[in-house]
Amino acid sequence: MRQGSVAIQNSYAESVNPQWVRLLDLLGMNVRYERCRGTELFADDGTRYLDFLSGYCVHNTGHNHPYIVEALKQELDRSGPAMLQSHVPELAGELAQRLCALAGGNLTKAFFCSSGSEGVEAAIKFSRAATRRDGLLYCEGAFHGLTCGALSLMDNSFWREGFGTLLAGTTAIPFDDPTALEQQLQTGKYAAFFVEPVQSEGGIRVPAPHYLSAAQQLCKRYGTLLVLDEVQTGMFRTGRFLAAHHFDVAADMVVLAKALSGGLIPVGAVLMTEEISEAVYSSLQRAIVHTSTFSENALAMRAGLATLDVLQQEDLGTRSIQLGNLLRELLTGTLAPYEMFAGTRGLGLLSGIEFRPPTKLSLRLSFQAFRAIHPAMFGQMLVMRFFRQQKILTQMCGNDFMVLKTAPPLVADSTQIHHFVNAAEQVVSELHNSTAFWSESLALARRAMNIAADICVYTNREIVVESVLSA
Ligand SMILES: Cc1ncc(COP(=O)(O)O)c(C=O)c1O
Repeated sequence: MRQGSVAIQNSYAESVNPQWVRLLDLLGMNVRYERCRGTELFADDGTRYLDFLSGYCVHNTGHNHPYIVEALKQELDRSGPAMLQSHVPELAGELAQRLCALAGGNLTKAFFCSSGSEGVEAAIKFSRAATRRDGLLYCEGAFHGLTCGALSLMDNSFWREGFGTLLAGTTAIPFDDPTALEQQLQTGKYAAFFVEPVQSEGGIRVPAPHYLSAAQQLCKRYGTLLVLDEVQTGMFRTGRFLAAHHFDVAADMVVLAKALSGGLIPVGAVLMTEEISEAVYSSLQRAIVHTSTFSENALAMRAGLATLDVLQQEDLGTRSIQLGNLLRELLTGTLAPYEMFAGTRGLGLLSGIEFRPPTKLSLRLSFQAFRAIHPAMFGQMLVMRFFRQQKILTQMCGNDFMVLKTAPPLVADSTQIHHFVNAAEQVVSELHNSTAFWSESLALARRAMNIAADICVYTNREIVVESVLSA
C-alpha cells in the first residue's frame, strides 16, 4: 500500500472503525481500489479484481455506469431544487410511477427513503397504521437490516446481542412453511408478515413454487399484510423486476433499496397499495407524519430513473437469467466430484454455492477444528482464497456460513462466468487436496487469536487445531 493511503487508512482506523481495518488486514483483503468500472475493480498496485459480490446486490448495473454518472452530473449542473422540504419533488413522482408500473399488482404509491433498513422501518409503521395491530411475523434466517425495528425481525443472535430490548410482538417462523404461517396468522394479532422472496443472507434459499402465493392467500384471509423485502432480490437481480414475479405473488408492500440508484446514491423505496398509503397519510394534518430529510432528494431520484433506463435498455433481466443458469449449470458439473460441494441454488444472478462438512477422516478433523474456532472461519478461508489467489471478490452469506454467495453485476459476460467457474474449481480442489489450505487457515486463526480480546478462550482451541494438523 502506498504512503498516502496508509495515512488515510490510519485516520479511518483512528476515527471511524479500527476493527474493520484490522479484519480486512487479517484476511489479506485490505486493498485500496483506485477505479471501478462494470464488473472490475482496479487496485492501486495495478491488480484487477473481478467483482462477484456487487456490494451485496447494489451494483446490478455495474460500477459507475457511464449513463448513470452522466445523468447525475447533469442533475448537479442544472442547480435545481434539492431538499427544500417545501416543494413538490417532481422527480419522485416520476420514479414512483415507473416503479409501481414495473411492480404491478395493486402497488400504486411509493415512499422514498435512504436505505433498506429505513424502508423496513417504514413498512413496520405503515402496516401497523393500516391494520391497527402491533404484531409482526418474520422468517428464521431472515436479514432485514440493522436499525432497531428491522433488527427485531431477525432471529440471529449475532446481530442482536448487546443492543438491548428490541420491538415487542415479533415472532419468527420457519421460511417456506405455510402451515407454520397459518398457525400464527390465526391468532389475529399480526399487522404484517415480512419475507424475502429468496432468502439472501439466509443462504440463497429459493422457496417452493407455491409458497409465496399461498402466503398471500393466507395473509389476506387473516387480515395481515404481506410485505416483500426485495432489497437484494429486486431491480432485476433474479431476472425479473421483482423476484415476486417468478412466483406470481402480489404483495401489499414491497421494499426496494441497494441497486435502485446504480450503486451511487443512497436510496430506498416502499411500494404500497392505495389503502395503506391512505391509512398513513389520512388527512392534511398527517401529510408529513412519516418522512425524512433525505427522502425524495433529487440526486437519488435522478439516479433511480437513470438506473431503470439502463436495466431496461440493456435488457439486464434477460441477461441475468441466462448467465445465472449458465453459472449454476457449469458449477454443478465442475464441482460435482468434490465431496464438500453440496450443490448450487439461486435465481438469475443471485446464486449460492453450498458446502457441507466432509466425511473423509483427514478433512473432517481439520474442518471440525476450524469450525470450533469460529463458525465463519472455514467460509472466510474460501473467500480469502478467491480474493488473494484468484482475484475475485465474493462473500459468505451473513446468516449461513456454509454458502458462498455469487452475485456479479448483471453486466457480466459469459467469459467472466467461465473464468469464475475455473477459479472455483481451483479453490475447491485445493480445499480437498492440499494441506496448504488448512495450514494457512491455522496461521489465520493464530493471527486472529493474537488480536482477539478473549485470547485465553481461544488458546485451548489452538492446541486442538495444532494437534489435528500434525496428526
Ligand atoms: C434483504 C435485505 N433487507 C434489508 C437490508 C437492509 O438494507 P440497508 O443495509 O440498506 O439498510 C438488507 C441489507 O443487506 C438486506 O439484504
